[in-house]
Amino acid sequence: MNKDNLLKEAKRVLLDNFQPEGFTIPCKGLYPFQWKWDSGFIAIGLAHFDIEKAKSEIDSLLKSQWGNGFIPHIVFHNDSDTYFPGPDFHHTYLHPEASKKYKSSGITQPPVIGFVLEELYRLAEDKDDILCFIESRIDSVYKNHHYFYSHRDPFDEGLVYIYHNWESGTDNSPMWDHIWETMDPPDYDFERKDTTHVDASQRPTKREYDHYIHIIEIAKSCNYDDRLIAERSPFLVYDPLFNAMLLKSNESLIKLYGIIGDQYEKVEQLEKWQEKSKKSFNDKLFDHNLNAYIHYDIRNSKPIPLISSSSFTPLFAGIPNKEKAVKLIQTLQERFGGENSYLCASFDPTEERFNPKKYWRGPVWINLNWIIYRGLKRYGFDEMAERLKNETIELIDKEGFKEYFDPRKETYKNQGHGGYGGNDFSWSAALIIDLLNQ
Ligand code: GLC
Repeated sequence: MNKDNLLKEAKRVLLDNFQPEGFTIPCKGLYPFQWKWDSGFIAIGLAHFDIEKAKSEIDSLLKSQWGNGFIPHIVFHNDSDTYFPGPDFHHTYLHPEASKKYKSSGITQPPVIGFVLEELYRLAEDKDDILCFIESRIDSVYKNHHYFYSHRDPFDEGLVYIYHNWESGTDNSPMWDHIWETMDPPDYDFERKDTTHVDASQRPTKREYDHYIHIIEIAKSCNYDDRLIAERSPFLVYDPLFNAMLLKSNESLIKLYGIIGDQYEKVEQLEKWQEKSKKSFNDKLFDHNLNAYIHYDIRNSKPIPLISSSSFTPLFAGIPNKEKAVKLIQTLQERFGGENSYLCASFDPTEERFNPKKYWRGPVWINLNWIIYRGLKRYGFDEMAERLKNETIELIDKEGFKEYFDPRKETYKNQGHGGYGGNDFSWSAALIIDLLNQ
């Protein structure tokens, strides 16, 4: 397809997935509600051709914010019975500050909205208008960051924890396998919906789902109180992707407050968080043997020495110094970047547990590619960035706006296709619009 047709198709996907309530679903059937980080990426795509829809995407998410600043990972604006766990499962009314108006989950997702606001500022033609919009929303995002640093950083080290694998955005990554071994959840009775839309071999198993559900049951038994969750959740992790998104968003808030003016206290606070977080990030999450950023399991007090696409996202937030960045790129090239592979597999292809077809255990995801692309550009690794961008476009051009893609080039030759998961997936469409316009 030529560039114009690809753009036209991408736009069609976004418009088809846009809902009357003013937000965009990630994918028909499979994900029929509003997801937090999806909405951020979707807003970037929308901003290229319909800034009002982009604003509405952000607004519909911010409306669900809790009194303590928390923003949930799913907002149930609409009814649908094609997804489990749906609106009646999470019982967020248990938390005294949860939204009374909107049903939602009680877990969150990577904090992308700060940098998305900066992207909207960059893309909008009418700068006065978008600045006015940002000015009236930015404090909600600041409040969300304040929530993270005051509720999710129990050791006061500038790193925030996630307490559920769904908070990471990388749901069934092999990162969590050893945590599942520490748990023995009940064999819950529930009806999975995802496997009615997508081949079960590409999705997490029933037993994995038992673990996912069990952690939410524990959070409910804590009435979603973060202090209790930090004590009781069997899953408590510093995730490099999650923390890198927070730092990138901090940086964007500092820039945007600078443009708005007269916000010295908030800027000062953001700079303090930023400095502390960057230091801890490099001290605690960089593995000098693997030459990559890794996850840290707080519950079991140990690093998780495995590499995934999340390992390269700190480039986007300017976290490594030049020397570390060079090492990181070498790791990317050596383990993920062979000539027979598309960048960037979601899990280390040299590891035994790498599975090129299964969700976050190997396939390429477009949002991670976009984040890493931006990181490579930031550090001037232009050749690698160009490769990443071209391969991302090639995959979509070949396979359509799939949810995830087999990173092995041979698959496309042998079986004729390699795109998996949902079709017409919104962030695949949104971010390709952005990449094609770079
Ligand atoms: C899956 C992905 C998650 C995404 C959601 C909606 O759960 O793992 O990152 O936000 O789908 O697209």
